[in-house]
Amino acid sequence: TKQKLWGGRFTGKTDPLMHAFNQSLKYDQRMHAADIKGSIAYAKSLKLVGILTAEEEVKMIKGLEAVGKEWADGTFEPKEDDEDIHTANERRLSELIGPLGGKLHTGRSRNDQVATDMRIWLLDEANTIKDYLKALVNVLVERADKEQSALLPGYTHLQRGQPIRWSHLLLSYAFSLNTDLNRLKELIPRISVLPLGSGALAGNPFVVDREFLARELGFASVAENSLWGVADRDFIAEFMMWASLVMTHLSKMAEDLIIYSTAEFGFVSLSDAYSTGSSMMPQKKNPDSLELLRGKTGRLFGNMAGFLMTLKGLPSTYNKDLQEDKEPLFDTVDNLSACLRITEGVIATLEINEQKMRSALTMDVLATDLADYLVRKGVPFRETHHVSGRAVALAEARKCQISDLSLKDFQSLHEKFTEDVFNVFDFEASVERRQAIGGPSRKMIARQIETLRSALANA
Ligand code: ARG
Repeated sequence: TKQKLWGGRFTGKTDPLMHAFNQSLKYDQRMHAADIKGSIAYAKSLKLVGILTAEEEVKMIKGLEAVGKEWADGTFEPKEDDEDIHTANERRLSELIGPLGGKLHTGRSRNDQVATDMRIWLLDEANTIKDYLKALVNVLVERADKEQSALLPGYTHLQRGQPIRWSHLLLSYAFSLNTDLNRLKELIPRISVLPLGSGALAGNPFVVDREFLARELGFASVAENSLWGVADRDFIAEFMMWASLVMTHLSKMAEDLIIYSTAEFGFVSLSDAYSTGSSMMPQKKNPDSLELLRGKTGRLFGNMAGFLMTLKGLPSTYNKDLQEDKEPLFDTVDNLSACLRITEGVIATLEINEQKMRSALTMDVLATDLADYLVRKGVPFRETHHVSGRAVALAEARKCQISDLSLKDFQSLHEKFTEDVFNVFDFEASVERRQAIGGPSRKMIARQIETLRSALANA
């Protein structure tokens, strides 16, 4: 059986089901450009150690470029026996340049080749994803800058807590995502480690210059141990862990906005561009974009967890199980990219209803401020907390707001209350008192915006 690349020692035929089971070309063909790029660099390294003449090198590179062009033009014709992108490209190369094509794989294995291709491919995608993430952080920051006047309750346990600015909430999302940007920057060097030149497992006997290969392919470093070089897929697991974390941030934001877009809240309304209707209920406008963001979080987490299960229990170096790295990674990259762009669109086109946000601000969210008022008059906070709680209870019993209580009512709760207690009942003033770093006052919002803008400029 001449057809199969590895057919030499075989006398029996592959079961047709097994053939299909083993074949990865249908999904790994998307790494065609990475595979050609790696092979061109490898051909150059073979010339440097005398395996190829200068003439052969030129012919081989031209052949590889021609194969690459067929993929790019959509004219590449896969053959039944092309097991994966690596065998497909080598088969086609030999068709184009003859027996010389058979020299390309000298000292190389698909084991170091596939690990290299995956890293080249992911480095490229990671940069695109970084741009999407930056664009999203930017939209959040610009909205936050524009909508500083909008006040709403900040929630803990989904119960009204204290007044905040809408900008402050947007910026909290931006800070999560900016931290994700930093994490991505930190993990990229761990993707950028070159396995090529590790051979099947035991290294390269033709002593190709691996540092040359790293420079050619734009890698930051070289895998220093060949057994590790062919086996390591931690960069894939780590990228998917990172993607899962990004998705939890998108999911949180989506969940907030789903709640805020209900008629009961009405703080925001989603653009038609990111909503869908009901096939039965004519009045419906559903936040499907946000729900899909939330839903896809589970899917990306599943890709990560599933692949960790694949890695668990593998013996050292290459095992075919590792071919199972591709579909979860590709799916993660595709869906994360889509989610980031959809989120950017949702945030950019959202409308807010400042009036609705304001009317959700009931006076009880100033109960902490009422306690703080007595603190400023020298009363210990533990006591003022209790006094303020009693004011809330009194208002609740009277079915009124705490600001409707009389000075006499307040004085019955504590003697330090004077006429100026009514100044407490001002949401804007409450927010503006929060002048410590991190707070929702205008000054601190400006500081957060500045921090994020300079982070974006350097990302
Ligand atoms: N398609 C394989 C993969 O994705 C390439 C490596 C195959 N190596 C081997 N020894 N069978 O992992």
